[in-house]
Amino acid sequence: MTRKIILPLSLFLAVQAVQAVQPSAPNPVPVPLRELKWGQLNFLHTTDTHGWLAGHLSEPSYSADWGDYVSFATRMREVAEADGRDLLLVDTGDRVEGNGLYDSSDPKGIYTSEIIRQQPIDVLSPGNHELYKKTTAEAELQVTVPNFHGHYLASNIDIYDPETGELVALGPRSRKFTTKKQGVRVVAFGFLFDFTMNYNNTIVQPVEETVKETWFQQVIKDQEVDLFLVIGHVPVRSKEYDAVFNAIRQHQDTPIQFFGGHLHIRDCHRYDPKAVGLASGRFMETIGFMSLDGLSTERNQSKPESVTFERMYIDNNLFSFYKHTHLNKTTFPTESGRNVSRLIQQYRSTLKLDEIYGCIPKTLWMSRTPCGATDSIYAWLQQAVLPDMLGDESRRGKPAFAIFNTGAIRFDLFEGQFTRDSAFMVSPFTSGFRYLKDVPYAQALQVLDLLNQQPRILAASEAAPGFLPWTLAPPEQAARTRLTRFVSDIPVDQTPMSSDAQYDTIPGYTTTDDLGTDGDDTIHSVIDFYDVPNCIGALAPHAGSAVPETVDLVYIDFIEPYVALAASQLGLAIDVPHESDVYMPSTSFTDVLVAWITANWGCT
Ligand SMILES: *[C@@H]1O[C@H](CO)[C@@H](O)[C@H](O)[C@H]1NC(C)=O
Ligand SMILES: *[C@@H]1O[C@H](CO)[C@@H](O)[C@H](O)[C@H]1NC(C)=O
Ligand SMILES: *[C@@H]1O[C@H](CO)[C@@H](O)[C@H](O)[C@H]1NC(C)=O
Ligand SMILES: *[C@@H]1O[C@H](CO)[C@@H](O)[C@H](O)[C@H]1NC(C)=O
Repeated sequence: MTRKIILPLSLFLAVQAVQAVQPSAPNPVPVPLRELKWGQLNFLHTTDTHGWLAGHLSEPSYSADWGDYVSFATRMREVAEADGRDLLLVDTGDRVEGNGLYDSSDPKGIYTSEIIRQQPIDVLSPGNHELYKKTTAEAELQVTVPNFHGHYLASNIDIYDPETGELVALGPRSRKFTTKKQGVRVVAFGFLFDFTMNYNNTIVQPVEETVKETWFQQVIKDQEVDLFLVIGHVPVRSKEYDAVFNAIRQHQDTPIQFFGGHLHIRDCHRYDPKAVGLASGRFMETIGFMSLDGLSTERNQSKPESVTFERMYIDNNLFSFYKHTHLNKTTFPTESGRNVSRLIQQYRSTLKLDEIYGCIPKTLWMSRTPCGATDSIYAWLQQAVLPDMLGDESRRGKPAFAIFNTGAIRFDLFEGQFTRDSAFMVSPFTSGFRYLKDVPYAQALQVLDLLNQQPRILAASEAAPGFLPWTLAPPEQAARTRLTRFVSDIPVDQTPMSSDAQYDTIPGYTTTDDLGTDGDDTIHSVIDFYDVPNCIGALAPHAGSAVPETVDLVYIDFIEPYVALAASQLGLAIDVPHESDVYMPSTSFTDVLVAWITANWGCT
């Protein structure tokens, strides 16, 4: 069955000026939209926001900020409650790392945790990024968990409390509550996928083990439940969520709503006719909307024959927010929403995030262009930045061959001003460089080759249990590959908009999921994506006619375990961890990128 993308839609066609609250945010472009389908119980979902609480200041489609979202949630709740419906808010983690608003404060995250708490989220959970560093996990325990008094769930995470040294649950394992209007009795959980690279002050229990625990088995046998709400930083198509689904289904046919994340994609998965999971993208680009109808309630306990699930991926901008709430510039904002936007503006100013380092002459893409193209960010790093900038004082005159993983870049580099903020968006990691002296160039090339032959080789390695080889490439790419496999049986309808729409479509998400092809609120034109290799090698100084005999094999420290594995699999006589040394001390990959832009692309 092929769906016509146009037919079931009613298009919003009003024209009016739309203005975002961050002063430097671009105005959203009026576009054709699909309408929301409300149910008894409705949800708004954010995930993988990674500190992008100011919204996207270079992209009109995603230019609303967290304050606008606070207003949106209030107005959506008003719409729902006026009809006797309920609205709940969910966030599934990775709120930290990836944006100057989080990363550039000292200590990190003091402003973002203050901003996030202004939104009354009903159920939230942490992601893997909350657990990489000791201090980040401790801030969750000491700041964010208390900020959300009982709503922050950690079904499979323990932490050593820095005050007492005791191992304690990071948050409540589950939460039972009844919705305000409908009286839907909800039991909620908050999971993290089977993550193994956390710092040793936290313990993540594999989800498959957690579901065997006595407390979990007791909770899922509760008969006075109308809906199990399973949220977590877990892909909606995963062995972890399959385990939770199967565990509940062994006892009950009760409807289950899952919310997930981590892969940075829009996706909706149907587990069975009464269980659906939603993933709502990344970086404050998407506000996920989910509605359920046919639930039993406190007052009406007849078990439903069938449950209706509807979902919509709302582009995070004021045009969408106004349309879905039937409000306008004057009537939409709430006082607390405006206050939050003002707070974000003040914090951005305190952190000098608008400080200009240079001006980008032409947009450089991660995956919207082939990797070798002139507008590829990777080609630019390989051919200009690294050859120009690499060089260690103590290794003068020695050529270097630098390997970096494509996942080290997190965002496109947009034409226009390159600010302190842009630097954190494009390259948020603090990784520096390490190197091995005088490696035969041919061997260095072999290492790169092997890193790019994954996942087959490294995934099969027992030397690296828990390694997810695709973590070297950007997460979105792995998700695209996995998704193609999962949803290949759904006909993809990319019918272009017909000429009767008043507005032109602009490029953006065109999602296909288990519920079909009508999930994006904004009707976009298709963007082509190109795969990138896991890793790229750059020769410095510039590759000339002479091929060097030996090179310093330089790599980003984050990929050291992978380089070590590749070297050992190739049988190279290199002992990576022991023989390697710091290259360009106290210089990070981000520093190199910023220095190049400052030196070469000044604003005129
Ligand atoms: C955690 O790792 C640190 C080194 O980073 C080590 O000193 C400490 O003993 C470890 N703690 C535990 C409980 O393993
Ligand atoms: C009670 O719930 C069942 C199942 O959802 C539904 O079919 C029925 O219409 C409801 N009854 C009332 C009075 O709302
Ligand atoms: C917004 O809506 C209100 C109420 O419908 C109306 O009075 C007002 O003129 C509108 N404002 C704008 C800027 O369109
Ligand atoms: C908004 O901020 C103003 C000024 O700081 C304050 O007086 C007011 O109480 C705040 N309102 C809300 C709803 O937070």
